[in-house]
Amino acid sequence: ENQLAIAIDGPAAAGKSTVAKKVAHQLGYVYIDTGAMYRALTWCALQKELDLEDEAGVHHLLMECDILLKMEQDGQRVYVNEEDVTQAIRTQEVTNQVSLVAKHRKVREEMVQRQQKLAKKRGVVMDGRDIGTHVIPDAEVKIFMSASVEERAERRHKENLKKGFPSNLEELMDEIRRRDEIDSKREVAPLLKADDAVEIDTTSLSIDEVVERIIAVVKKNG
Ligand code: C5P
Repeated sequence: ENQLAIAIDGPAAAGKSTVAKKVAHQLGYVYIDTGAMYRALTWCALQKELDLEDEAGVHHLLMECDILLKMEQDGQRVYVNEEDVTQAIRTQEVTNQVSLVAKHRKVREEMVQRQQKLAKKRGVVMDGRDIGTHVIPDAEVKIFMSASVEERAERRHKENLKKGFPSNLEELMDEIRRRDEIDSKREVAPLLKADDAVEIDTTSLSIDEVVERIIAVVKKNG
């Protein structure tokens, strides 16, 4: 069967990675989490106490960072220069600052090159903010997932409570709004629905319903 590239974009906490993983699993495709790459770089920069606004400094650091996304038995793991950072890149500290790192032109150019290499072979589901617009503009399937801020924060909140993590709904709402604002207003490759993307408003849909809709789009376009 024809191997495709499926680009999934959308705002923070829209459930992109959960859905993308399931779609990839159903199709036997590789899942590539581009947000994890920006998070890994942010984690490195924080470790080194770099000024995140220093574009040249952060770019220089990236050139020394080998970021590896690896599918293992217990799910996708993320490595930076062979150190496992899978958990470390999900902290509130990284989440709150990743958008500052991701707005730099030189950083994005390098990340996009790396991501394009990963997508070249097709048979991929890639999620992020600029996949359909910049990373794989010729993707056979483009999806834009949206949901209200309230819904997205509510889902995260429930997820946190379920895992026994401390969680504050108002803080989550603020963080999501702030991240979306920086991601949407940045100069380079802002968060944007590609003209030819299919928009799925997930507000009142379950994860499996979203997966089904995407598979239906794949069947139609594939
Ligand atoms: O997808 P996730 O929420 O983990 O992404 C973290 C951050 O990485 C986003 O808020 C955004 O600033 C940045 N990002 C990006 N372009 C992508 C993927 C993520 O700018 N393709």
